[in-house]
Amino acid sequence: MKVWTRDVLSEFVRTKLDGYRLIVVSNREPFQHRRANGHIECIQPASGMASALDPVMRASGGLWIAHGNGDADRQSVDQFDHVQVPPENPEYTLRRVWLSKEEEEGYYLGFANQGLWPLCHVAFTRPLFDPDHWRTYRRVNERFAEAVMQEAGSDPTFVFIQDYHFALLPRMLREAGSNLVIAQFWHIPWPNREVFSAFPWREEILHGLLGNDLLGFHLPQHCQNFVETVDCSVEARVDRAGSEICRGGHCTLVRPFPIGIDFDEHSDLAESESMSVHIRRWNQELSLKGKSLGIGIDRLDYTKGIPERFRFLDRLLERYPAYRGKIVFVQIAVPSRSTLPAYRQIELEVDALAAQINLRWGTPSWRPIVLLKRHYTQPEMIALHRLAHFCVVSSLHDGMNLVAKEFAASRFDEDGVLVLSKFAGAARELKDAIQINPFSIEEGAEAYRAALQMDRAERGRRMRKMREAIDQDNVYRWAGKFLSQMARIEFPDSNDPDRREFDFSLTAEKALGVAV
Ligand code: G6P
Repeated sequence: MKVWTRDVLSEFVRTKLDGYRLIVVSNREPFQHRRANGHIECIQPASGMASALDPVMRASGGLWIAHGNGDADRQSVDQFDHVQVPPENPEYTLRRVWLSKEEEEGYYLGFANQGLWPLCHVAFTRPLFDPDHWRTYRRVNERFAEAVMQEAGSDPTFVFIQDYHFALLPRMLREAGSNLVIAQFWHIPWPNREVFSAFPWREEILHGLLGNDLLGFHLPQHCQNFVETVDCSVEARVDRAGSEICRGGHCTLVRPFPIGIDFDEHSDLAESESMSVHIRRWNQELSLKGKSLGIGIDRLDYTKGIPERFRFLDRLLERYPAYRGKIVFVQIAVPSRSTLPAYRQIELEVDALAAQINLRWGTPSWRPIVLLKRHYTQPEMIALHRLAHFCVVSSLHDGMNLVAKEFAASRFDEDGVLVLSKFAGAARELKDAIQINPFSIEEGAEAYRAALQMDRAERGRRMRKMREAIDQDNVYRWAGKFLSQMARIEFPDSNDPDRREFDFSLTAEKALGVAV
C-alpha cells in the first residue's frame, strides 16, 4: 500500500485543516542565523525534533515559534520578529522569542536539561531540581504563551507544542481562553511513576500538561507511565483503557505516535552522485583499506552510551585477537549543552577512554578509535553510513533515536548491520537490528562480532526489513496521524457542530489511499 509522503501530508493539511491556523512551538529553532567570516549564514541546528518538524511545516505552511539564539538572529527578523524560512525558498514563518542569558540558563540549561532530561531518561545521572530554575522555566513558558496569543488572536488555531521545555505552556494557553486546540508531543521518555515521584512540583507540572487536548509520546509504554503517574499524583478521572484523563471539566487524550524520518529524501540523497566526493574523503582520512568500519553518531550526551560502545570494542579486541589492526571505530560526537557539568564530565570520560583504548591496542599505523567532536553535514554523515560495516546506537535510554533510522535509510544497497540498544524507542520497530543491553559489555562485544561475521544474505534480509519499516512509518505518517487526531478535536468556540462527528483520521487515510 502507498505510504504517507510529503505530498499526501500537504494534501491532507490543505483539505482538512483548511481555514485554521497551525502554530508549532519549540525551544530549538529550525533555522539559525549566525555570523561567519564577515557574513551571515543560515544553518539548521542538530536536533531530531527540528528535523522531523521542518518537513511538516514546509508541507503545511503556518508559523513556528522558537527561541532565537543565533548571534545574527536579531538582524534577520522583521519588526514582528518574523523571518521567512527556508531562506532559499520560503515556505513558512519563523517567529523568534528572545531570552535573556539568565532566562536561558534557568529554563533551558537549568530546569529542562538538568532537571527534566535526566529525570525522564532514568540514565543514572541525578536530576537537579533548583527552585530558581523552576521559576525561570515558568516565566519563559509565560513568554511563549504571550507570543502564541499574539499570533493566534481570536482565530481558531491549532497549537502544536514540542517537548519537555514547555510543560506549563498548555495550561497557560487554556487559561488565556482563546479559541485554540492545544496539542503537545513529548519527544523524550516519560519515566514510571516511582521515578517521577521524586519530582518536587508534581501537581503543577501535571496540571500544566493536562491543559493539552492531546498529548503524544513515542511509545505506548510512555503513555502508560504518564497515565499512571497522573492517577497516583493528582485528582483526576483517569480512563486507563481509553487513555484519557479528565480534570476540572477538560479532557486530555494520551496517545503514542512513534516518530520517523523523511525516508525517501534520505535514501535518494544516499544514492546520489554527490556522495562520491564525501566517500572518497572519508576513505582517505580513515585509511580504511583492508579494515572493517564501525560507526557511532550522536550528540555528546550521557544518555547515548558512548563510553559503553568503546568498552565493547575494547573487549572485542581483547577476546578476539584476529580483529586487532582490522577494525576502525569512528565516533562522531556533536558538542551539545557543553556548559553543563554533566556534559563536561561525559566529554572528559569519552576522551580519556578513547585515548586509553588506543594506547592499549593501537600501533604506529593503526588507531582503533577515531573520535571526531564536531558538527558534520548530513551528506558527510550519510557517506559514513554507506562505508560502515555496522552502526551502533547504544543509548542507555532514548525516546526514539533517529540515528538508527537514518543509518538504515542510507543503505539503499541493503547492506550494513545495525547494533541497537533495546532501551531506544526505535527497538520496538527495528526488530531486525542486533539488539543489546548496553549495560552488558559482553553482550555488546558479542554483538560487534556477530555484525562483523554476518554473511551478506543475512545482512541483506535484515536491512531490507528495517528499510521497509522505516519507509512505512516515516515522518509524514507521524505528522499525518498526529494532525488527524488533533483535527478531530472541537474548538472551544466552535461554529461547526459537525466537526466532531467527522472521523478525520480514518477518512483522511482512506480518502488519500495511505496506510493506516
Ligand atoms: C532531543 C530533544 C530535542 C532537542 C534535541 C537537541 O532530541 O528531544 O528537543 O532539540 O535533543 O538538543 P538541544 O538541547 O540542543 O536542542
